[in-house]
Amino acid sequence: MSRAERLDYLRTSADLSENIEAMLKPLTFEDADSMVENAIGIMSIPLGIATNFVINGKDRLIPMATEEPSVIAAASKAAKIAKIKGGFTAEAGGSFMIGQVQVVGVGSVKDAMGKILRNKKQLLAAANSKSRSVVAIDLQVRRLRDSSPNKMGEMIVVELVVDTKDAMGANAVNSMCETIAPMVGKITQGEVVLKILSNYATKRMVRCKAIFDMEALGGSEIVERILYAYALAYSDVYRAVTHNKGIMNGIDAVALATGQDFRAIEAGAHAYAARDGTYRSLTTWHRTRGGDLVGEIELPLAVGIVGGVTSANPAARLALRILGTTSAKELAMAMAAAGLAQNFAAIRALASEGIQKGHMRLHARKIAVMAGAKGMDVDAVAKKVAAEGKFTTGSARQILSSLHDK
Ligand code: MEV
Repeated sequence: MSRAERLDYLRTSADLSENIEAMLKPLTFEDADSMVENAIGIMSIPLGIATNFVINGKDRLIPMATEEPSVIAAASKAAKIAKIKGGFTAEAGGSFMIGQVQVVGVGSVKDAMGKILRNKKQLLAAANSKSRSVVAIDLQVRRLRDSSPNKMGEMIVVELVVDTKDAMGANAVNSMCETIAPMVGKITQGEVVLKILSNYATKRMVRCKAIFDMEALGGSEIVERILYAYALAYSDVYRAVTHNKGIMNGIDAVALATGQDFRAIEAGAHAYAARDGTYRSLTTWHRTRGGDLVGEIELPLAVGIVGGVTSANPAARLALRILGTTSAKELAMAMAAAGLAQNFAAIRALASEGIQKGHMRLHARKIAVMAGAKGMDVDAVAKKVAAEGKFTTGSARQILSSLHDK
């Protein structure tokens, strides 16, 4: 499709009445200048749409912002195979974030902890006095010993559990922590140091699963080879990091498109990958009795559809409309599906023809377009470029004109 055709397709299939072109206009310098310090310009990243996704029985178009070729194609292809067996099944747990208030220098840690718990109600009321939309629902307290070489002694961490609903919630949780900090200091007679949310959002878990038809993915030998790929990613950190990088190709691309804090997502995801003390694959893979491949992903995902960048950037708002999510949980499920799809596509390619062949096929198409090929000619030229192994616009131009000489 041409760009205009793609936008028309979105208008009908995602039922958009907005002025899409206007929403896709890059931010202005003035926008940038009001967002960050010492701004000098805008860094642009391509925004595309992954297709074929069915998540919990619903067709979804997945907006992805990425500079990496093949990512969107790979996700779409994986989703197409997953669709044969019904697509992706996903679920998201609570929408709770944890905020931490660190207290040091208390006389008796045990007494201080008891006092905090006895004042739980007042502390929660104080936290909730600052926000109407998000709610602190619980407060817990932990005792920690400094295990750094500086040996700073014992400390306690007062943790607020906050239901941030459809917001990512960083600002609200940080404000709540700062609001209760003086009270915490007074109650414990200690010194409050840090007051900040935790990006390890273990009370905001998302899970997603898909079955990939054995025949459609190339037969039982490929399934077997994919299980070997998973074995390496589970057992070896050097492979696990690359395996998870492929997963984050999908998750980050949706995060960027929809205006999420992708650094927070990355940090939380990698900590979760190392939850048993060893950094492992974020996905698990096994085979059904019938020989199909089953992939599952589980990770913490703190995302929002209100507040943050989503309100500052019209393209992020448009991406959310395209995705058709009505809650942060739905967004998290779509991101998990994109991550699982990306991982499937990568390990399938790696376990069969390798990834370079697919990359070069796409590269050949790009060269064909740059050489002026249009419509059906694009594939014909790309095929010849790839077959001859001459990936230059010059040779694509020659191939194109020879097509029309005939
Ligand atoms: C490249 O961006 C991602 C891969 O390296 C992921 C993987 O190796 O699984 C292909």
